[in-house]
Amino acid sequence: MRSVKEARGQKLPLIAGHKLLYRCNLECQMCPFWRREDEELLTVSEEIRMMDALVRAGVSFLGFGGGESLLRPDLPEILRESHDRFHTSLVTNGWLLKQRIDELAPSLEMLFVSLDGIGPMHDFLRGIPHSYERAVEGIRAARERLPVAISSTITKDNLHQAESMVDLAESLGVEITFQVAYDYSTADALRPMGPDFLETLRAIRARRIAGAPILESPEYFDAIIGSWFEHKSWHCKPWLTINIDPRGRVVMPCYVLHEYAGETPVWEIDVADMWNTFDWSKYESCNKCALACYLEPSLFSWSNLGMVRDRIVSNALGHVGRRRPRAAAAVGAAPA
Ligand SMILES: C[S@@+](CC[C@H](N)C(=O)[O-])C[C@H]1O[C@@H](n2cnc3c(N)ncnc32)[C@H](O)[C@@H]1O
Ligand code: SF4
Ligand code: SF4
Repeated sequence: MRSVKEARGQKLPLIAGHKLLYRCNLECQMCPFWRREDEELLTVSEEIRMMDALVRAGVSFLGFGGGESLLRPDLPEILRESHDRFHTSLVTNGWLLKQRIDELAPSLEMLFVSLDGIGPMHDFLRGIPHSYERAVEGIRAARERLPVAISSTITKDNLHQAESMVDLAESLGVEITFQVAYDYSTADALRPMGPDFLETLRAIRARRIAGAPILESPEYFDAIIGSWFEHKSWHCKPWLTINIDPRGRVVMPCYVLHEYAGETPVWEIDVADMWNTFDWSKYESCNKCALACYLEPSLFSWSNLGMVRDRIVSNALGHVGRRRPRAAAAVGAAPA
């Protein structure tokens, strides 16, 4: 595993996140991406060039996001190429899922479908009527074909529905992953705060410990509580994840800071050299976001036996006993 490489003094990304586009069919309040006007896409052969560069960098997990990836007609071809190289996951708003699942499922190990509330709350946050029913229909179609998790973003408006989201996941027979809204400068500020948020975090943590199908570890919720409410920072390892923008450019040091501004195309970079000469130390105590795709992998430690057991042993048993690869999904987290 990569932490062994870190112990040898090397840093290399284990996970890659790639936005296939910024365009979207929804208009979520907290999201900056659908508002961007600088979209320029890679062709399929350039996508393959990008993937080969990621293979050379030692990446094992590739998560596709956007924008809304299902708007791309060439998505099945791109996913097939990814599936040949990586553990592949995708996050979608679910609007087009029911009609496209057959062409996508064979190339995906895990699918995340975003749901931010029950019925009208989800539609309110997503800005488009019927987006809730379309996403739930999509989940019902997809869960027959592959492991599915709801990806839920906690905001100041929906935090009182977080437990209902866990109930929904249970009733749909899928898993759920939570992240906390980050206030991008070009989107509405919906970051949750205050005692209600603390209560929500404690409640979800308790549900996780009681066995609810929540992908994050209890330590994930502890880290958010620590950094939000107790001035205790968690140690961020953004280098575990490499983010690639729609033009194939690497977004440094993570996709949150600098508002998703990519620099050089990944195929023009020696990732190992860049990763090991970049000064990551100033980001260790950043704590500006609580995005599951950064926080959860950052928390993994070989010295935490409970976590090792949860991620590795349970995952192996999971493959034998049921279809859901909990650890792989959690390591990959919901891409953005
Ligand atoms: C940017 S979207 C792209 C994929 C797809 N369009 C979707 O909504 O699932 C990926 C995830 O980012 C989340 N997201 C959007 N704005 C966010 C913010 N300000 N902070 C944290 N997560 C956010 C969404 O809720 C979604 O689950
Ligand atoms: S969160 Fe996803 S669905 Fe919502 S606007 Fe952003 S890209 Fe579109
Ligand atoms: S805490 Fe979030 S914003 Fe800060 S470096 Fe880590 S991933 Fe980036």
